[in-house]
Amino acid sequence: MRSSALADVAGAESSRALDDVRVAWLGKKGRLTAELKALGGLPPDQRREVGQAVNTLKQELAQAIEARKADLDRAALDARLADETLDVTLPGRAVDPGGPHPVSRAMARILDIFRGLGFAVADGPEVEDDYHNFEALNFPEHHPARAMHDTFYLPDGRLLRTHTSPVQVRVMKEQAPPVRIVAPGRVFRSDSDQTHTPQFHQVEGLLVDEDVTFADLKGLLATFVNEYFEDELEMRLRPSYFPFTEPSAEVDIRWRNADGSAGRWLEVLGCGMVHPNVLTHCGVDAERYTGYAFGLGVERFAMLRYRVDDLRLFFDNDVRFLAQFR
Ligand code: PHE
Repeated sequence: MRSSALADVAGAESSRALDDVRVAWLGKKGRLTAELKALGGLPPDQRREVGQAVNTLKQELAQAIEARKADLDRAALDARLADETLDVTLPGRAVDPGGPHPVSRAMARILDIFRGLGFAVADGPEVEDDYHNFEALNFPEHHPARAMHDTFYLPDGRLLRTHTSPVQVRVMKEQAPPVRIVAPGRVFRSDSDQTHTPQFHQVEGLLVDEDVTFADLKGLLATFVNEYFEDELEMRLRPSYFPFTEPSAEVDIRWRNADGSAGRWLEVLGCGMVHPNVLTHCGVDAERYTGYAFGLGVERFAMLRYRVDDLRLFFDNDVRFLAQFR
């Protein structure tokens, strides 16, 4: 019986099979239990000896089952560990970092240059009213830029600012001269083709002080343009018209071809001396102070610097395009 019982234990290949062996030998109806029950039927001189032998075997068998169970558990754990092994030498899934959008990069670069020239950065709302966007800027009542064609109007009569010039008005009303600010931000016009998007970015500049001249304006813009393009570019000013500046000019730079030779003239900025009506409207003494203002399109500057030929690429957000600017 002993060798048969121990063989059963050794042959159990799972904890469930082992449990069956335990029940078969040690359970209520098990073989050893039956032997103990049968003791009473033995001749008295044999009872003691057989009883001891059966009890010893019972203990030995219980121990053997414990030991076998421990073996089976360890084997199961080893198998699981082997199964779930991590290969820590495999390359990880790398994080693919993004980067600033090219328009943001150009914007940061532009503001950096003006900060270095002593300009503070000012801010204004994208939803404006007619007063700040047009009226205070000396737009005659029936100026075409007021027409629905260019301007997005809200149902309540407010509008999406069509340029950053309203920030001029807000700053001058808040701050006495000297004023020296740049105002970056989004502007909106109902316009869309290869060179126009309904939303784009401008940087406005405004300087108001005593004895400010057109020569100061020209010198500042030349410094800015050359620093931005890291070049010495030819620049020219063409007479132009804005209601809020007088005189007004558009600024062209002479672009360089890839081989370094002089290329086309490109318009990059609008500018002028702040119109006395605007100064007066904003509570600035136009007898004592003069000022200049300018406005530039950030997408334009980004396209030129990064040699991007379609404005719409900036707004498609195709990662293959954007990844080149990381
Ligand atoms: N606000 C003008 C525009 O959007 C640009 C400009 C700004 C011109 C300041 C002169 C002075 O076209």
